[in-house]
This record gives sequence, C-alpha cells and structure tokens, in this order.
Amino acid sequence: MDIQTTKANGILTIEFNRPDKKNAITSAMYQLMADALSDAETDNAVRAILIIGKPEIFTAGNDLEDFMKHSSAPVGERPVAQFMRHLSTASKPVVAAVAGAAVGIGTTLLMHCDLVYAAENAKFSMPFTQLGLCPEFASSMLFPQMVGYQRAAEKLLLGEAFSAQEAQEMGFVSRVLPAPDLIPFAHAQAAKLVALPASSLRTTKRLMKDSQVEAVQQRMLAENKHFGEMLGANEAKEAFTAFFEKRRPDFSKFV
Ligand code: COA
Repeated sequence: MDIQTTKANGILTIEFNRPDKKNAITSAMYQLMADALSDAETDNAVRAILIIGKPEIFTAGNDLEDFMKHSSAPVGERPVAQFMRHLSTASKPVVAAVAGAAVGIGTTLLMHCDLVYAAENAKFSMPFTQLGLCPEFASSMLFPQMVGYQRAAEKLLLGEAFSAQEAQEMGFVSRVLPAPDLIPFAHAQAAKLVALPASSLRTTKRLMKDSQVEAVQQRMLAENKHFGEMLGANEAKEAFTAFFEKRRPDFSKFV
C-alpha cells in the first residue's frame, strides 16, 4: 500500500510508503488519507494522529503525472481537497515527523498540523512558482503569519528549499532531531497526547484555531480557483514536461 495506516494505543499513524517514487502522492493516496482522517474523527479509540514518511524522504508532493491526468477536475472536488479539509479541521491533535524532502503539499500540510518535528536531513520547499502554479490550501495566508512576510515571500516566490535548521529558526518546526531519534520522539509526543484528557485537547486546539477557521476556508477557495486555472495553462505543462524529460523548464516565451 502506498499509504500505510495503523491504529495502535490511541494513535492513528499515516505513513507515506511509495519510496520508489519519492512518496509522490496520487489521487488514490489522498483518498486513503482523507478516509483515514474522516474515520479518526469519529473513532473514540483514536486520540492523536501521527503523519510520517521514510527516513530519506517525507514526500515529493503531488504526483506530477497524476496531476497532469486530472488537471481538468475542479481542485476543490479532488481527493487532495478532501484530505486537506479533514486535516485542517481535525479536532484531534496531529503530530508530523519530517525526514528528507517535504516538497509542495508535503510542506503545506504541516501548516495544518499541531506538533511538527524534523530530522536534521529534512528539507522543505514549496516550488509552486517554479511549476507555473501558486500556493495552495491556505499556505499563502498561514505561512506569512507563521514566519513573517519577508521570509515567507522568499520561500514562496523563489520556491527554493530550506533546511531543518532554518525551519526551526523561523518557527516553522518545533524541534530538530538526529535522524534516528525522529520517529521515536514524535511517537512519544503523540503518546503523551493520548494520555491527556481528550476534551481538554479538543478545546485547547479549537480555541487556538477558531478565529481563523472561516478565513482559512475562504483562502483555500481563492487559491484553488487560481491553482486550477494555472494547472491547465502552458506554464505548468512546460514545467511538468521538463521534469519528466529531466531538463530545465523554459518560461521565457510566456508573459
Ligand atoms: N511526481 C511524480 N514522480 C515523481 C515525483 C513527483 N512529484 N517526484 C519524484 N518522482 C519520481 C521520478 O520521476 C523518478 O521516477 P523514475 O525512477 O521512474 O525516473 C523517481 O520518483 C525518483 O525521483 P528522482 O527525481 O530521480 O529523485 P531525486 O532523489 O533525484 O530527487 C526530489 C528527489 C524530490 C528532489 C525530486 O524527485 C523532485 O524534485 N521531485 C518533484 C517535486 C515536485 O515538483 N513536486 C510537486 C510539487 S506541487
């Protein structure tokens, strides 16, 4: 299975498990994750959610081939949107542990998690402009809020990767750990959450997020509209084709 889910000791673990394609996420994988989160919301046995990848890669983001195939479906109706809706509205605490590259949605999704930890080899990037696209799932709002406008602008406009250390300095991740310690630590943090009163965690999380819920939903809708249009445009086609042809894209002909 490209997404592995396990429930044990109060923790739902969602694991990216497609290492041969750098854990690139297909529609089917988004659907599995959306369903797992939806189920967790109503399953009293789940008291915390843990999202992990592999030691060498968190995820290369959207599967570009799958993306091209489904580029005509409205973004808001795709499994990715279902997944992100469930993640951004999850009432239970979500812990994420990132090792290796977290590209595109791999970084975006972290903005909707509660405790985010990184291994020393973690690398974050949102290369949307490099792909002829724009930020997604409220990252154009949440990222500047989290790290400050100028730092966010540098990462979102240039789309270049940043290190675990820089992410910690910016306040984007709470802690950086040696690679072998990452998963045990994240798991132990999730276990601490499991042992706490669920209602207290729910209320605390809601109080932190409540004032933003509407704004986040509105921003997602606005971004989806632009993103959907850009996905069908020639700039994105050039970027995706260049990736699979293993060459640099040429955007000079587009104004
Ligand atoms: N979609 C589809 N396939 C992908 C992919 C993606 N996002 N990312 C990687 N792959 C595939 C490659 O095509 C390659 O397949 P192949 O072995 O059949 O040729 C395989 O995964 C390994 O990728 P490769 O690029 O050789 O690995 P790398 O270690 O040199 O680089 C990354 C890793 C993540 C830096 C690089 O793969 C990358 O930049 N991927 C694209 C990221 C991206 O633009 N995501 C979309 C954001 S919206």
